[in-house]
Amino acid sequence: MPQAERQMHLNAFLMGVGHHEAAWRHPRTEASRIFDAAHFQELARIAERGKLDAVFFADTLAVGHRLEHNVTTVFEPITLLAAIAAVTERIGLIATASTGYNHPFTLARAFASLDHISDGRAGWNIVTSGGADEAANFGLDQIPEHGERYARAHEFLEAAVRLWDSWEDDAIVLDEASGTFAVPSRVHRVDHTGHRFTIRGPLNSPRPPQGRPVLVQAGSSEDGIAFAARWAEAVFTAQQTLEEGQRFYAALKGRLAAHGRSPDELKVLPGIVPFIADTEAEAKALEQEFTELISPAYALRQLSQMLGVDLTEHSLDAPLPPLPPVHEIRGNQSRFQLVADLAQRESLTVRQLIARLGGGRGHRTFAGTPEQVADELETWFTQGAADGFNVMPPYLPGGLEDFVDTVVPLLQERGLFRTDYTGRTLREHYGLQRPAGVFTRSSGAQVAV
Ligand SMILES: Cc1cc2nc3c(=O)[nH]c(=O)nc-3n(C[C@H](O)[C@H](O)[C@H](O)COP(=O)(O)O)c2cc1C
Repeated sequence: MPQAERQMHLNAFLMGVGHHEAAWRHPRTEASRIFDAAHFQELARIAERGKLDAVFFADTLAVGHRLEHNVTTVFEPITLLAAIAAVTERIGLIATASTGYNHPFTLARAFASLDHISDGRAGWNIVTSGGADEAANFGLDQIPEHGERYARAHEFLEAAVRLWDSWEDDAIVLDEASGTFAVPSRVHRVDHTGHRFTIRGPLNSPRPPQGRPVLVQAGSSEDGIAFAARWAEAVFTAQQTLEEGQRFYAALKGRLAAHGRSPDELKVLPGIVPFIADTEAEAKALEQEFTELISPAYALRQLSQMLGVDLTEHSLDAPLPPLPPVHEIRGNQSRFQLVADLAQRESLTVRQLIARLGGGRGHRTFAGTPEQVADELETWFTQGAADGFNVMPPYLPGGLEDFVDTVVPLLQERGLFRTDYTGRTLREHYGLQRPAGVFTRSSGAQVAV
């Protein structure tokens, strides 16, 4: 697409009362609102006021080590997004769900329901669940091996796609005169027989309005990139520098042709944690206020988990100890690499590294004026590092309001972002085609009336 016509895509990645790990302790937030569905409904309406493409919720299937010092996920995302669908009209609704600990039939059904309930606004952030605490909740002694997790994800998607497609688009006729609800020959068994799942089908839901929910993926390891190239229509990623972002963008887009896909069929959306204020000095001072509220004990546990080494007794003022090679990491390989590279590139002590990761757990934090934030986004967007962004407000709702009220208008003035929605579905917001079903019409089939 010519650069002049390209439009940026913006998601609001919403988490508790903000992405900064100490957000809940800061006076700009009200921590108890994480238990309040109305809080998330209000956030979605703010994002919709800004004409953002989607709201997005992450998820993990365990309480884990965050409990003492950080707010943990409270609501299951698909359930929460159904509540948000009821109070919004246009904004996309992206839920994280695991291929590791779900079954394709039940999850395909849940996403089909969300897509129907929202008139075509559902997206699925497909994750493979790399946490030991998650494995323990599902009867496993350890995290399933990285390659196996992705192999299961591939099979999961093969089955889910056939399930969504199992009802042809015109299977339902609702012909009151003849008493015909649906045409049986247009509703298909999927007959999936794989290594991990055996599913007859059809799905007990008509085809979703978007055909399938928008498929989003967020792992950036070699296996993750291969998975994204085959399946993903949007990729969430953490990239610290413009050069890394450009490398990742080119590498991922370059993998699409092998699957018969064009570069426009996948949107690359890095995360950004913006601290916004009237002056750069104020924005940096605001970031510092949050940094000072970080609990070192919590941050060390978080870092230990990311890096696969126990740092809980490690000196805060020393550099990182030697790390294991990336292929030995069973969990999140790409985030391991990002943190290891960041510490080495900038010769950071553990204390400095913790401060850098506090805003977005590895996503790029940027403190500046609305113009500086808009400039930064424009640079990444025009210099081949992004098709848009996952905006991760460090505190909520204020950080999202500031972004919508001060940065979005600048992007609109520059012709980089829509001034109103032109489509109704998430696919339309992202400029993605509605996929044709895998089951072709059985020609000449007669309806048994
Ligand atoms: C923006 C972003 C959001 C993510 N959200 C989740 C999440 O909600 N739940 C989860 O289990 N993993 C999440 N992940 C992790 C990845 O989906 C993936 O499972 C992990 O990176 C391991 O894959 P990899 O080794 O291929 O990188 C997220 C990653 C990114 C970049």
